Amino acid sequence: MSLRVAVAREAAPGERRVALTPDVVGRLETAGTTLVVEAGAGSAAGFADSDYEKAGATVVAPGAALDAADLLACVGVPDLDALRAGQAVVGLLQPLLRPEAMERLAARGVTVVSLDGLPRTLSRAQSMDALSSQASAAGYKAILVATEHFARYLPLLITAAGTSRPAEVLVLGAGVAGLQAIGTARRLGAVVRAYDVRAASRGEVESLGAQFVELSSVGEAAGDGGYARALDADEQAAQQAELAGHIARHDIVVTTAQVPGRRPPELVTAEAVAAMRPGSVVVDMGASELGGNVAGSVPGEAVVTPGGVTVVGAGDLASRLATSASTAYARNLTALLAHLVVDGELHVDLDDEITAGVVVTHGGAVVHPATRALLGAHPTEEPS
Ligand code: NAI
Repeated sequence: MSLRVAVAREAAPGERRVALTPDVVGRLETAGTTLVVEAGAGSAAGFADSDYEKAGATVVAPGAALDAADLLACVGVPDLDALRAGQAVVGLLQPLLRPEAMERLAARGVTVVSLDGLPRTLSRAQSMDALSSQASAAGYKAILVATEHFARYLPLLITAAGTSRPAEVLVLGAGVAGLQAIGTARRLGAVVRAYDVRAASRGEVESLGAQFVELSSVGEAAGDGGYARALDADEQAAQQAELAGHIARHDIVVTTAQVPGRRPPELVTAEAVAAMRPGSVVVDMGASELGGNVAGSVPGEAVVTPGGVTVVGAGDLASRLATSASTAYARNLTALLAHLVVDGELHVDLDDEITAGVVVTHGGAVVHPATRALLGAHPTEEPS
């Protein structure tokens, strides 16, 4: 018996990644699954239909992959209405941002598995950590995007035509993406500073050769599970005001701040952008329809302010590094499927820490405690 896994083109406009790549097909078979791929699903990420076929997957006509599938594998949220009772879906589905949709899927008998909920600090879950692999790709790309809009060298250059001072880069939010941005900017020769509300990030920032920026107005704000907690309105205002002075002194600012299940916090105000020198660049990695870290950033666009500062709304950076991001994501997903599939069937054991973290709906109910809490159900209540 084998679990039939389908991969279709991603539903989000402009998304170039694909959930599973040809190089994991063998591992998927070993895990007790077979792969059906919609024609063209991997093409934007550089994977041809023939590569999937050579690896042992079946390629079917557009729209047909889901027909006989037990599980749909995606990166982002698919067309949820296309899922039928008895089917499962796995991806980065952000259930905390759409609890009602999760409830509807549960009622329809669809099992939802979301990689967002993975207990990431558990060492046996590390190979499945898609949030980290995608944040890492995005953090790297953020610096490359910034350099495209920046009309100066990044490194110190001493040439016969004169000396150029190194660019000064400020990274706000020093989690996985921020640390990758710091490393990339350092490799290009910039002087890098970084700030985070979690005091624990100081050591990581400094180990990459960047300076840690400390704010006197905002204290430690570590929350649960190694994440930041949301700041209250006073703390946020104080943070914005103090950061503005630092922002104005930098040539490139990259923002990566996130708080799980919430809108990204606004770190860079319009006044802070207005105080930057002409030619400066701000890359807002949090930019989405929910708003971003930077006032006035527009998802998918580079806006030049009247003061000559380019603000890039770049919530899609992992998609812009589609081949590497998909390759890593496919390995994460395959590792998760190897954990969840037993004898060719999805085995949902909610006593297992990894399974309990990622399974959002199962057996007709929302089982994920944090999603249940948003729906008003007590997190510890047994689903009826
Ligand atoms: P994230 O994507 O949720 O947020 C990015 C960064 O923004 C975080 O460092 C957070 O502290 C920061 N942030 C949030 N609000 C902020 C504000 N108002 N001002 C400034 N910064 C703000 O975080 P990510 O990258 O997913 O990492 C979260 C934590 O999980 C980190 O401590 C990371 O080291 C840890 N982690 C541990 C792993 C492991 O043990 N294997 C694997 C992955 C992450």
